[in-house]
Amino acid sequence: MSNKKRLFIRSWGCQMNVYDSGRMADLLAPLGYAPAEAPDGADMVILNTCHIREKATEKLFSELGRLRKLKEEKPGMMLAVAGCVAQAEGAEITARAPFVDIVMGPQSYHKLPEMVARISRSGGVAIETEFPVEEKFDHLPAEAAPQGVSGFLTIQEGCDKFCSFCVVPYTRGAEYSRPAAAILAEARRMAAQGTREITLLGQNVNAWHGEGAEGLAGLLRLLAGIPGVERLRYTTSHPRDMDEALIAAHRDIPQVMPFLHLPVQSGSDRVLAAMNRGHTAEEYERLVDRLRAARPDLALSTDIIAGHPGEREEDHQATLRLIERIGFAQAFSFKYSSRPGTPAAAAAAHVDEATKDRRLAEVQELLRTQQADFNAGKAGTICDVLVTGPGRHAGQIAGRTPWLQPVHAFGSSTLVGRIVPVRIVAGHPNSLSGEIVEQEKDAA
Ligand code: 5AD
Ligand code: SF4
Repeated sequence: MSNKKRLFIRSWGCQMNVYDSGRMADLLAPLGYAPAEAPDGADMVILNTCHIREKATEKLFSELGRLRKLKEEKPGMMLAVAGCVAQAEGAEITARAPFVDIVMGPQSYHKLPEMVARISRSGGVAIETEFPVEEKFDHLPAEAAPQGVSGFLTIQEGCDKFCSFCVVPYTRGAEYSRPAAAILAEARRMAAQGTREITLLGQNVNAWHGEGAEGLAGLLRLLAGIPGVERLRYTTSHPRDMDEALIAAHRDIPQVMPFLHLPVQSGSDRVLAAMNRGHTAEEYERLVDRLRAARPDLALSTDIIAGHPGEREEDHQATLRLIERIGFAQAFSFKYSSRPGTPAAAAAAHVDEATKDRRLAEVQELLRTQQADFNAGKAGTICDVLVTGPGRHAGQIAGRTPWLQPVHAFGSSTLVGRIVPVRIVAGHPNSLSGEIVEQEKDAA
């Protein structure tokens, strides 16, 4: 088929970028672009970038260096840089890599078909780094490729919190909530395409305040009413926006899973204040108490930053103690990385690299132990597992527990898309292995 064109998208960073990459593919499908597995020979390559931590820009330029060679071999190839590095470093990209055809920020990818058409017609470069989020969501296509048993749905974008260390308010812009009607329509379509678990995405997802529902709790209630939507999750939440209604949603809505990603960043009040997080360690712990009272089997995940400017040894110790007291099932931890233009970057007392490395290692060691303990604790229990696909080995299936743990078990691939009881045989550091409870094995 000569009019079929091949599209390769490389995505870095958060789940929202994964979602955005999917929507870019949906937007380009009507123009004849079909997904390719590798950039070699592709007619269009999109690099969907992340700016949250260091080295993003350098990684991008080294990737662009490789792609330049592919482009020399295939001059018609179109090359686009999307995402937060494009937003923040648009001018540098066009200066250092003039062979790039399109530079577009996260709020502009709906214009992709128009940019591609313009460049195919008359050449040149397209640069789009404006901020009108509403417009983007209005222009997303109704047609979308299925996401599989578990899928993402962006409901909120941007952030007004301005944590000292974070570039998101600058790259993704102000908070914007999509209206409930648009979200419900997308969720219905996903359910009709076989998606059983929907993870709602937003940089500040629990600050959602769109039209048509009373906060995120109200929205979850509406989503839970859609036939086929069996599991709901949301990420990433800010502790300050965890209101009573949302806590109650974990108790009252069976589809809302007992797992919550709730970044705390630090266990020291001094550092939390310097970070502009708007809560103390004690307030975070009381919030966790209320969540666990509402939903006793709730498991928590978090983000920790080691070595924020001004962090002293006693602050680091306070972080370790908070982690010990809470007990996380999963976590992401990062060495503080100075982002130009953020308040923390301009702070006086930066922590030296060796100290940051050591503190991060200590944080990670503790979190690793907690995750391993949490997984080991599931051995011998029966978990409801959503079967998401075939497993790594023949005759195996892969799935997820309510607590997001990957599970492997022997079973038929006819079970994909179903929730089956699995007896957990062993808990490993990053996954579980189990056996499907007998009467289900032969079903379907
Ligand atoms: N340095 C290190 N970690 C960061 N994060 C955000 N900005 C930085 C930074 N400058 C982490 C936070 C956030 C997660 C998505 O990335 O922990 O919750
Ligand atoms: Fe960044 Fe803080 Fe906003 Fe999260 S809440 S996106 S860490 S500024």
